[in-house]
Amino acid sequence: MTTSFVINGESRTSARDPMTPLIDILRDEYHLTGAKPVCREGICGACTVHIDGRAVVSCLVPLGAVEGCEVQTVEALAADGKPSPLQEVMEEHDVVQCGMCFPGILMALTAFFRDRPSAGRDEIKAALVGNICRCTGYERVVDAAVALARRG
Ligand code: FES
Ligand code: FES
Repeated sequence: MTTSFVINGESRTSARDPMTPLIDILRDEYHLTGAKPVCREGICGACTVHIDGRAVVSCLVPLGAVEGCEVQTVEALAADGKPSPLQEVMEEHDVVQCGMCFPGILMALTAFFRDRPSAGRDEIKAALVGNICRCTGYERVVDAAVALARRG
């Protein structure tokens, strides 16, 4: 049995067991290592990707569930070498962290801002409740996200 889907705009077909967690497919088969397998229990958010535009934890999604879906990973946030507005504002605010949680944070916030581009600080914090940072670097992330929201 094979699973056909789209990753970052490219059509893919995988012959792996359909119960294989999507994060393992992304990392092992396609070398997209931005999403991190940290807890593997759906708790930390480090493995967040988009499936059909929605942020999901890829450790809990079996490969077979993405048949016919569009998957986007953090590697596709920058288009034509240009960072996304969210990536730019994070850089402007010196959000330099260890990198374990950050790809998931970027994906969670990107999906969130599609629906709530002018969200307030509390809404932004609530949107990040599923993204745990063991380095506790939340404040700058939130400050940067608030700055982006103020630009509308
Ligand atoms: S690794 Fe998926 S939520 Fe933590
Ligand atoms: S886990 Fe290290 S910066 Fe969040």
